[in-house]
Amino acid sequence: MRSSPTGFQLAALTTAVACLSCDGPFSTLQPAGTSAAIIARLFWWMAGGALAIWLLVMFLSLWAIRSPQIPAEKTRLLLIGGGTVVPFLLLTTLLGFGLSEMPALVNKGSPEEPHIRITGEQYWWRVQYVLPDGRSFETANEVWLPLGRRISFYLESKDVVHSFWIPALGGKVDMIPGRTTHLALEPTRTGVFGGWCAEYCGLSHARMRFVARVVEPEAFTSWVEQQLQPSPPSRDAGTHLFVSTGCGACHTVRGTPADGLIGPDLTHVGSREAVGAGILPNESQGFAEFLTHVSHLKPESQMPTFDMLPASDIRLLAEYLEERK
Ligand code: CUA
Repeated sequence: MRSSPTGFQLAALTTAVACLSCDGPFSTLQPAGTSAAIIARLFWWMAGGALAIWLLVMFLSLWAIRSPQIPAEKTRLLLIGGGTVVPFLLLTTLLGFGLSEMPALVNKGSPEEPHIRITGEQYWWRVQYVLPDGRSFETANEVWLPLGRRISFYLESKDVVHSFWIPALGGKVDMIPGRTTHLALEPTRTGVFGGWCAEYCGLSHARMRFVARVVEPEAFTSWVEQQLQPSPPSRDAGTHLFVSTGCGACHTVRGTPADGLIGPDLTHVGSREAVGAGILPNESQGFAEFLTHVSHLKPESQMPTFDMLPASDIRLLAEYLEERK
């Protein structure tokens, strides 16, 4: 006869499934930045504290169940000690520990490094790098960071509240319309880490992702130099088609007449990790899919669907975008 799983087996299964999700590019428990390491340490202390309290309560409950008669003095002692003194001491210790970690989290980035202005849009990320020498450039849905340098982020929103979060690098910070919030991140290992919006902001909230790529400082400098360049010349009629179909009214491609400011800057869109804020692969097929099905792929997005264009135009536009390296 088959027996149903016991509470212990269910708990073990749940723990195993939960532990499987502790891995990967979105993990807060495998920190890749100084702030994330502080937050992870805080988590383990809090989890340890919670476990200690839970064990104590379980022990006292069992003891109470098995003792038929508890003298009145003991009951009073248990209520005052277990109900007031112990929680007060434990919570004060954990609060003190948490507050002592705060200053290291809010320190600003180094003035010798670029700073990054990020604007939450529905539903993508406008990314503006401002270099220490005053030069600047714009990109979208992708953030490159030099290893071991502390970089300041200034966070804004045009429409609703979004929340900027790269779990492996640090904590989340809200982007509030009409305000600028600050965050500084200092990566401690190279790699590609996931970022996403952590505040419900509309129908496509879950499709508002981005990538943080941590590289060696030399690779970062060459990436910056490459991003400052205008878009590579187009092989055939791509630029003309991009402008004549109206794409240039919303998107900028530096070095061409396309200078729209509503949507993402597409100057080097072909060199990015993904299309449409992390929803499609960065290849001509991904661009074609996005152009023809955007209202389905990204409900409430401001970008109109271009399914009225002939397939040959869609292919040409998709190839044009893929070549913007
Ligand atoms: Cu932006 Cu959720």
